Amino acid sequence: MAEKNIVILTGAGISKESGLDTFRDADGLWNKVRIEDIATPEAYARDPARVLEFYNMRRHSMLDKNIRPNPAHLALAELEQKFPGNFLLITQNIDNLHERAGSTNILHIHGEILRIRCTACQEIQHFKSAISLTSICNICDIIGRLRPHVVWFGEMPFHMEEIETALELCDLFVSIGTSGNVYPAAGFVERVKNNGHGHTVELNLEPSEGATLFAETYYGPASEIVPTYIKKILRQSW
Ligand code: APR
Repeated sequence: MAEKNIVILTGAGISKESGLDTFRDADGLWNKVRIEDIATPEAYARDPARVLEFYNMRRHSMLDKNIRPNPAHLALAELEQKFPGNFLLITQNIDNLHERAGSTNILHIHGEILRIRCTACQEIQHFKSAISLTSICNICDIIGRLRPHVVWFGEMPFHMEEIETALELCDLFVSIGTSGNVYPAAGFVERVKNNGHGHTVELNLEPSEGATLFAETYYGPASEIVPTYIKKILRQSW
């Protein structure tokens, strides 16, 4: 059946070959710092300077000129451009590699490292440098209330209503580079399976926590298996 609605979910694995760390691999971020110290509202309340510094370092490293979209990001942008139906890219990643590859219909369910939010006026702004406890919000002029516009553990992910609708309509769900450890994203595959017409595919370096839930699976580096898979579905007639 020709798919009319494609939903892609990506995780840190798609950005690994671009030079960005994943979270749960042996060399992943959560083996270098504890989630409880860095990625929770309680950590920010307890030691805001440490949390801001962690995200300042991640923002700085992501802007390194050697961090570029890889063939997997580019293949997804090509699919969005050539696919005649509805295309939605949901990413758990806070980097901007999908945008830089040319993707446009993107939902950052966990936020974006290049945006900051003022906890006083709630304004969200694009921001490329460091923030600290003496930073001033240039909207409300209040000092020391800026934070990364990133979802921490225990906070609500973004765009969930739009995502729920897309999963109900989804004919083809492709999960790329995610370990399937974190909900709600890890539960998307079952939502699509339960909508009665969704085909589910996993593209990952190795089987994820939810691997057995997928109808079709391909394993290997994203920069290789994603372009190959995208070529395969672009050969379909829609
Ligand atoms: N190509 C494809 N997949 C890869 C590659 C690669 N080159 N390298 C690693 N992977 C796979 C790993 O096998 C793993 O299954 O990517 C996955 C990365 O898993 P995680 O590190 O858990 O990252 P992710 O699934 O994105 O984490 C989800 O957890 O901590 C939170 O907010 C954080 O968005 C993140 C969420």
